[in-house]
Amino acid sequence: MASKLAPFALRQSRFSLSRFPIRQSRPFTSASPLLSDVLHVHRNSPENNPNIPFKFSAQNLQIVDEILARYPPQYKKAAVMPILDLGQRQHGFTSISVMNEVARMLEMPPMRVYEVATFYTMYNREPVGKYFVQVCTTTPCQLGGCGSDAIMKAITSHLGITNGHTTDDKLFSLLEVECLGACVNAPMLQINDDYYEDLTPESVVDLLTAFRAAETDKTVKVPTPGPRSGRQTCENSAGLTSLTSPMWSTETLRTDGEL
Ligand code: FES
Repeated sequence: MASKLAPFALRQSRFSLSRFPIRQSRPFTSASPLLSDVLHVHRNSPENNPNIPFKFSAQNLQIVDEILARYPPQYKKAAVMPILDLGQRQHGFTSISVMNEVARMLEMPPMRVYEVATFYTMYNREPVGKYFVQVCTTTPCQLGGCGSDAIMKAITSHLGITNGHTTDDKLFSLLEVECLGACVNAPMLQINDDYYEDLTPESVVDLLTAFRAAETDKTVKVPTPGPRSGRQTCENSAGLTSLTSPMWSTETLRTDGEL
């Protein structure tokens, strides 16, 4: 009996629901929802598909052994992040083949490795240029010095690419990123593993020009990482403003002029 009544009840409830007025509401934002799946979807391409073989080099296999030795053998999957990073450094980016090889070595389901690689944005799952330029555009860098907007503008007009793109010669990729933890030296950017800080539009163009020149002329040295303003690290650019008088204890101030 109940089963005979069910379709009737469903029809009735649908009918009664349709009599309620449709609620008129607007979302807080008028921007269209972000439908990009680039962060979590892999699509095969000529340079990134599972048929491209990947093996760690002999030298990197030694490093893999060193990393694995840090963990109990039954927990070797804990080494997934440093080994993925090693794969990225060898291959240039974290391709699907790199992920599959890491999964094989660590005896993990490949999906578990994909989950890690798609969660952390430092794994580049698409090829990037030889010099991966990541510009911090978070608030302190946006407000500090000339501001990161000016830095981005200088880079995009110098390299001729916009955010998220790579130059035709595959030398530079440009990406806006969130705080890189060097806010006191704002504005700053990261090129591969190095930080370049206290930037101005002129100094950032000089920096990129030097990197490009070093490609063709081996006598040109790539600039030393760190502040481009003359500061040594993140000391006060106005000089020493505190602790300038002799201390009351037995400790003494340095007399060599260094901080
Ligand atoms: S805001 Fe740019 S490094 Fe922190």
